[in-house]
Amino acid sequence: MTQQEHWKTKIGFIWAAAGSAIGLGAIWKFPYVAGTGGGGAFLLVFLLFTLFLGLPLLVGEFVIGRKAQSDAVSTYTKLAPNSKWNVIGKLGVFTSFLLLSFYSVVGGWIILYIIEVFAGGLNGLSQAEYGPLFGQVISKPFWTLLGQLLFMFITILVVSQGVQKGIEKASKIMMPALLVLFIVIVFRSLSLDGALEGVKFLLIPDFSKLTSESILFALGQAFFTLSLGVSVMVTYASYLPKTQNIPFSALSIVIINIVIALLAGLAIFPGVFSFGLEPDAGPVLIFAVLPAVFSQLPLGMFFFLAFLVLFLFAALTSAFSMIEIIVAAFTKKDNSKRKKTTWLVGILIFIVGIPSCLSYGVMADVTIFDKTFFDLFDFTVSNILMPLGALLLAIFIPLKVSKSELMDELRAGSNIRASIFNVWYYLLKYFTPVAIIIVFLDVIGVLKWFF
Ligand code: PFF
Repeated sequence: MTQQEHWKTKIGFIWAAAGSAIGLGAIWKFPYVAGTGGGGAFLLVFLLFTLFLGLPLLVGEFVIGRKAQSDAVSTYTKLAPNSKWNVIGKLGVFTSFLLLSFYSVVGGWIILYIIEVFAGGLNGLSQAEYGPLFGQVISKPFWTLLGQLLFMFITILVVSQGVQKGIEKASKIMMPALLVLFIVIVFRSLSLDGALEGVKFLLIPDFSKLTSESILFALGQAFFTLSLGVSVMVTYASYLPKTQNIPFSALSIVIINIVIALLAGLAIFPGVFSFGLEPDAGPVLIFAVLPAVFSQLPLGMFFFLAFLVLFLFAALTSAFSMIEIIVAAFTKKDNSKRKKTTWLVGILIFIVGIPSCLSYGVMADVTIFDKTFFDLFDFTVSNILMPLGALLLAIFIPLKVSKSELMDELRAGSNIRASIFNVWYYLLKYFTPVAIIIVFLDVIGVLKWFF
């Protein structure tokens, strides 16, 4: 998109931003980190972080993005000239780069699963066999690299052509379709024997399971699912007209995202308990449970295939936003450089992602700080770099943009009351930075000296 271009319709922007938000985070990662983090208590903390940190920050990113009408790095130069604040944008570009390097690995797994279903590899398996099958699929170096390559290829192709507009149109069909399919799966899951155990696990908090680490994971997850702290939402909002209602858009995106994460949880945990699996099984969870749930539906494999295609679409729309901000930052939105830059960046990302891709196979034993490459990249991006970016943004926005300018920008396109503006402003200015710092300190263990 060029500088003058805007999103075609108001709802189009919501779909595109929701497309960035909804992806592996809500569908694949949420159930597995909730499963590892203890279920209900994790969900509650995640919801609190999403509403009280995520939503205000999303509004903040939209406000400065639309105000500056620029790319991730120049936005900060424009709003705070002659300062070093554009480090937030640079950090965002770097974070997106690392993020896509392992995100594309999981995207590749979905592609391999689509091929596997076509090849009949899932036919006639018993419930207990889906998990081991997944383990086998993701441990094959050649195939997983090919999957990752294909995922990156589609991402590069779409973004290099700058055809996200087409994606905007497709999202309007694919996202509601995903929602409907999820509702069908949830109904099936809830009617499994022993489903109630899974529902209880997800919805009833057991605070004894909450640790400093799981709180950090919930914080990271809240930012991850909303694509926050990396200036992706700043860049997307730079294409917005002044008539767009920012608070409404942000709230809609947060609600859709929470609904999808909850549906994913409700689709998976009843199955986990009904089939006697472990909720903390990790990344395998969705791939081990859903085929088993689908196999109990008429035309099960057909519906599972439809689910995988929609799931892939959701992952791709998130990947587009990650590479888009890198490309926009390097080309300064000069369209003549778009193609070359996208290819170059995309190929580099693939190369950097290779050790993560092999982490579930030949490099499973190679660990740093006790983590495989995949886990190390994921942990660094989700639990350190994204909250750090969010912290810097929450400091930057009220410090460098005056309260009245923020008020004017937020009110353009919405008639939000001054009292609501104030709630947003003070949440962002005080609550967000303090909460993030406390979670960080808690993990480092500093707080334990005082209490
Ligand atoms: N929100 C995406 C997901 O939940 O899958 C992940 C993501 C996309 C994070 C873009 C950050 C980002 F900039």
